[in-house]
Amino acid sequence: MNIENQLTISAKKQLIGTIRIPGDKSISHRSIMLSGLASTPVVVKNFLFAADCCSTISCMQALGVQVEKQASGDLHIQGNGFYGLQEPKDILDAGNSGTTLRLLTGILACQPFFSVITGDASLRKRPMGRVVKPLSMMGCQMVGRQETRYIPLAIKPGENIRGIQYNMPVASAQVKSAILLAGLFAAETTVVTEPYLSRDHTERMLETFGVPIKRDGLSVSLEGVTELTAPAVIEVPGDISSAAFWLVAGSIMPDSQLTLENVGINPTRTGILDVLKEMGANISLINERLSGTEPIADLTIKSAQLQGVTIEGEIIPRLIDEIPILAVAALFAKGRTVIRGAEELRVKETDRLRAVTSELTKMGAKIEETPDGLIIDGPQKLEFAVCDSHDDHRMAMSLAIAGLAGCGVEINNPDCVRISYPDFFTVLDKVSL
Ligand code: S3P
Repeated sequence: MNIENQLTISAKKQLIGTIRIPGDKSISHRSIMLSGLASTPVVVKNFLFAADCCSTISCMQALGVQVEKQASGDLHIQGNGFYGLQEPKDILDAGNSGTTLRLLTGILACQPFFSVITGDASLRKRPMGRVVKPLSMMGCQMVGRQETRYIPLAIKPGENIRGIQYNMPVASAQVKSAILLAGLFAAETTVVTEPYLSRDHTERMLETFGVPIKRDGLSVSLEGVTELTAPAVIEVPGDISSAAFWLVAGSIMPDSQLTLENVGINPTRTGILDVLKEMGANISLINERLSGTEPIADLTIKSAQLQGVTIEGEIIPRLIDEIPILAVAALFAKGRTVIRGAEELRVKETDRLRAVTSELTKMGAKIEETPDGLIIDGPQKLEFAVCDSHDDHRMAMSLAIAGLAGCGVEINNPDCVRISYPDFFTVLDKVSL
């Protein structure tokens, strides 16, 4: 295996082993942002040192927060209090990370200083209007490219921030979180209502920082605060979105048996488990426990013949990042898999509906791309092909699993896995026989 700009993954027979799943990306981002608004030090254990979370580290450092990796591998954060962020001397760079960009915009728009935030070529194409609209209703002022629908975004000092009641048109944890974080600085109550429940890590972590959160069905509300009370330690669970690649690979490759340790099983993230079980996967949860306010477990997977399934409705936000790897699962399943209501995939790191279709088609797959999803009839026979990651980490990992379980693949630009799972290919090498 040579990792440069191209990587060849050979077909393998089976997967055997135990994998410790790296820290949750969403929770890692939130741990630095909230700790950076507190006044006492926080140690974050199992922090995900991947490119996206490092973008959040450097933005928070530019805002005057001390963030250091300790020899133990823990992250040490020392903020300057709820009103202690400092004006950044230069443009903030969110890199490839939508979570850094959108959540931080909610915080920046309420600070008494000017800031500018941008990101890489992919992030510059991703919609910001969904965050700018509610923040503007709260009294925040910002201007960006194309009538403030895209970054770079210049954010004016915020004053007199108002709480709002906002009905979100799309279920998005990033938008919900941006509004809730701005709501911390507002005089009145902030209420956000989603069409479907998206991941609730912000709400859970805010509670850990002493902020009362009210939940009522699909609505969540909070009052403004003047300080955050930080916990001394935050333990980040393993990322179920990273575990997903092994859940699918272990299911579709014959005679496989994998144990995944320390996986977050927050119900707003476990759509992948529900769907794979419905498809007939042999997955067990053992050792269920709590990591702070987040439930975790170890997962065991044994090979199984999967069946096609329909994926739509409220489950979509609960597995939004897992759809590329579920498309791979569908290719190995018997019968038709239909994915609907997943148009959000078109505005991720790349247009994932298009990328999944075009790249797996190169492997000989027959996939129907619809405006909001995919239709896949299985099982299908794959062939070796040269495919492109579209510089999207989840595409690179999905293609790798398709090649591993199929007839091999050569992936152009595979190093984008550094965004969420830097050791992915090393682990793949270790567990595949
Ligand atoms: C995330 C929310 C999701 C997800 C992304 C991480 C988060 O995005 O796709 O990878 O950390 O809040 P949306 O909220 O835009 O759907």
